[in-house]
Amino acid sequence: MKVMVVGGGGREHAIIKALKKSPEIEKLYALPGNGGISRDAECVNIGAKDIDGIVEFAKNTGIDYAVVAPDDPLVLGAVDALNAVGIECFGPTKAAAIIEGSKVFSKNLMKKYSIPTAAYETFDDMDSAIAYLNTIPAPVVVKADGLALGKGVIIAQTRDEAIEAVRSMMADKLFGESGSRVVIEEFLEGPEVSVLAFTDGNTLVPMVSSMDHKRAGDNDTGLNTGGMGAIAPNPYYTADIAAECMDKIFMPTVNAMKAEGRTFKGCLYFGLMLTANGPKVIEYNCRFGDPETQAVLPLLESDLFTVMRAVSAGKLSETEVKFADKHSCTLVLASNGYPGKYDTGFEISGECDTNASVYIAGAKREGEKLYTAGGRVLAVSCIGDTLKDAVDASYREAEKISFENKYFRHDIGARALKA
Ligand code: AMP
Ligand code: GLY
Repeated sequence: MKVMVVGGGGREHAIIKALKKSPEIEKLYALPGNGGISRDAECVNIGAKDIDGIVEFAKNTGIDYAVVAPDDPLVLGAVDALNAVGIECFGPTKAAAIIEGSKVFSKNLMKKYSIPTAAYETFDDMDSAIAYLNTIPAPVVVKADGLALGKGVIIAQTRDEAIEAVRSMMADKLFGESGSRVVIEEFLEGPEVSVLAFTDGNTLVPMVSSMDHKRAGDNDTGLNTGGMGAIAPNPYYTADIAAECMDKIFMPTVNAMKAEGRTFKGCLYFGLMLTANGPKVIEYNCRFGDPETQAVLPLLESDLFTVMRAVSAGKLSETEVKFADKHSCTLVLASNGYPGKYDTGFEISGECDTNASVYIAGAKREGEKLYTAGGRVLAVSCIGDTLKDAVDASYREAEKISFENKYFRHDIGARALKA
């Protein structure tokens, strides 16, 4: 079969490397992919948000199956457009992708179906939002309604900071139209867990849990990034908590989406916080997480393509989804300065052991050589019998890769090792 993956980051590279193992796939395309992905799939220069271009390419090339990985095309309706020309897809329709596309939608869904989440109010008028802030204590969390490249969340330590956050979103349009509505919510505390789950709209199968490391600096300091590393499984996520989440969060969400006429098929991502009052949903994503996918998929023993097709066919209950009983660590190598300003264009050299997976996020290729082309350049993922083995192996392997201005955190997995 001819399969295309929409997207072009480290997550897509991990998906492509997993799909490559499937005997059923003859040819893999990435739209647009990147210089590193071009070693594993044919990259086609069509942007992930160019829905018309994606559909045209798929029709003309005779694509049999499409995996739409990033949030933007999903929220824009890429799956609906591909389905309309008869192409089967992994990923939710536009109606279901709203679970990530609108925080107001997802918060209201959780309220309606009693799914545990932070208490909140929503506002589409700045004066009312500010009046409300004057009645509640800080810290408080201000969130733009729509997609904002993962940056639309401001944790305000004081009331003044919260008011400033609302002004920047609603008056100054810091995140464009995404901020024309805001959610103001209770500040929660506790370890965070990411759970990616396969669901066909009826059955849900959680993948191995994971922990992202969102801040740029060691010990969770500095700016928020797209993620500087991940480990899996997350030691805070015990079997008891997993059972509670299945019962109170995961299945209620799948059933709620179905009841709303928005059946969700694809990968549903639960961003959870394990609070003193039990697990609560911090966010939903309508897709695989980045960099969690780079830590989770290396542990998948089942054929990813078989699982994806079972999801889109509504036959997940008949399919085995098996993960290795091991540990995984993903270390992101970034360009110094990320998520702020950074220089690119430096040659990437070095080879990792064949047991390590290298997933390229931001690189361009010239001949056989790769050059840095993004903030997050690549991720090195290693598996071990213990978390410590996995973490040590990732750091050891990452040392073998060099490029000018290479930057990485030194404490990926440290918090988990202490748990
Ligand atoms: P989000 O984009 O919704 O995942 O939020 C980004 C990050 O902000 C999360 O990973 C949390 O660390 C933090 N965050 C979001 N909502 C809350 C909350 N209600 N209380 C505390 N931290 C939060
Ligand atoms: N790692 C967080 C995300 O993918 O949104």
